[in-house]
Amino acid sequence: MSFVEKLRAIVGDKGLVLDTQEMRPYLSDWRENYLGAALAIVRPASTEEVSEVVKLCAAEKVAICPQGGNTGMSGGATPQEVGLEIVLSLTRMNRILEIDKVGYSMTVEAGVILKTIQEAAADHDRLFPLSLGAEGSCTIGGNLSTNAGGVQVLHYGNARNLVMGLEVVLPNGDIWNGMRALKKDNTGYDLRDLYLGAEGTLGIITKAILKLWPKPKDVATSWIAVASPAAAVELLSGAYAASEDNVTSCELMSRQGIELVLKNIHGATDPLADRHDWYVLLEWSSSRPPRHGANQTGLREKMETYLGEAMEKGLVLDAVIAQNETQARSFWALRENHSESQKREGPSIKHDISVSVSKLPEFVAEGLAVMNRVLPGCRPVPFGHVGDGNLHFNCQSPPGWSKPQFMHHGEAISGAIYDLVTRFGGSISAEHGIGRIKVNELAHYRSQIELDVMRMLKRALDPHNIMNPGKVIQV
Ligand code: FAD
Ligand code: MLT
Ligand code: ZN
Repeated sequence: MSFVEKLRAIVGDKGLVLDTQEMRPYLSDWRENYLGAALAIVRPASTEEVSEVVKLCAAEKVAICPQGGNTGMSGGATPQEVGLEIVLSLTRMNRILEIDKVGYSMTVEAGVILKTIQEAAADHDRLFPLSLGAEGSCTIGGNLSTNAGGVQVLHYGNARNLVMGLEVVLPNGDIWNGMRALKKDNTGYDLRDLYLGAEGTLGIITKAILKLWPKPKDVATSWIAVASPAAAVELLSGAYAASEDNVTSCELMSRQGIELVLKNIHGATDPLADRHDWYVLLEWSSSRPPRHGANQTGLREKMETYLGEAMEKGLVLDAVIAQNETQARSFWALRENHSESQKREGPSIKHDISVSVSKLPEFVAEGLAVMNRVLPGCRPVPFGHVGDGNLHFNCQSPPGWSKPQFMHHGEAISGAIYDLVTRFGGSISAEHGIGRIKVNELAHYRSQIELDVMRMLKRALDPHNIMNPGKVIQV
């Protein structure tokens, strides 16, 4: 029996994609940086099928590229060009298995779309707080494998903090059952943490037990023009107390980014009459319903008072607080469409960096100067999660440039930004992972000891290097 026929015997016709046209969407990444090739796209329907497929691949030394929603930003879900791997897509494993309302947990298969999880939690008066632009198509398995961040990390933490238990198929096909709904568990090394953020290089996540929170009942969302990134950081710093610890999002954007969204996204509108250089989207939320009255105010009133005071101090230049959910959603659309609008505009380079929050304003000033020095005429588009010190310090090509023309300068621009990040004691990959795109950078910017330990782990857990080879770390 051929390898493909053996696969068919495990997953059936429904679980196998072999047609060239049908395979195509699985073979390139969202950013269209890579076009890989594969022996087959395999779509198992259960953990047992994943295990059997991995056992077969281990026996025949065929490498596996795990894939969820294929929205990753680092090329980790795209197989290599040589075509000797299979893509193992988890998208058929898309069942919510249990919601424990009292225990605040949800048990899911790895291929469930993030938005489906958010909606199921909301239907049970609960919140699953992971929230990001790709939530309509990314999967929870991909979220956990990239330790995704998103727009509520400053309050709830990143994906690593949102999960209790995991089930993982190991590179030899064994199934590790770590499906324990425990908030506390100090029994030896934390295997769960090993697989979170491993980008499919150590095993395949097949199930998870997620943590839930109370559903917010009082939400205040504002679109704010701020004087500078320093003003944004100061505004956030005071907001924690002013909101009574209810700050759930704080996102920074520049005028350049807003211009791209207004130009490229149908229906986008600027909430403010005048143009400003910098904007913040600030959201406060609480599970306590608003109580209006003399001394009992809701978050919206509290936010209004706070922004008024910030305006007197010169931190805030102008602001509008959403009066209803539709208006709040339109603010969020301006923020969440940054990536899509950059894609439509033409070639761009991403720098998913973080520095400490207090150093962020200085970093922005120096980073803008660096980009303009390395490539005069380029369009810096810094935006993102200011509360986490994590900015997408992106660079859009000068208008009308082709991708090869712009990418010719890519190494010089990114090298200069990453050297600056290093000088600030920051990270060159705050939330998107290393994937394929930053394998060389990891080797350059992490210490020898860190690289040695990572290699030791990879070799010990995946001795034949069949799990997503060429991603994260070269062995
Ligand atoms: P994929 O892209 O399919 O895979 C990502 C990596 O995980 C690959 O290395 C893959 O091999 C591995 N993998 C996938 N599933 C499994 C599994 N079950 N077991 C083992 N390995 C697996 N990311 C953020 O962190 N924050 C953001 O704010 C954010 N915003 C985004 C906005 C847009 C518009 C887009 C397009 C992307 C954004 N991303 C963001 C990046 C991306 O959405 C996340 O990385 C997401 O978590 C990836 O999920 P996925 O299911 O698409 O994974
Ligand atoms: C986001 O926060 O919107 C994404 O992580 C950013 C990006 O596209 O760089
Ligand atoms: Zn982000």
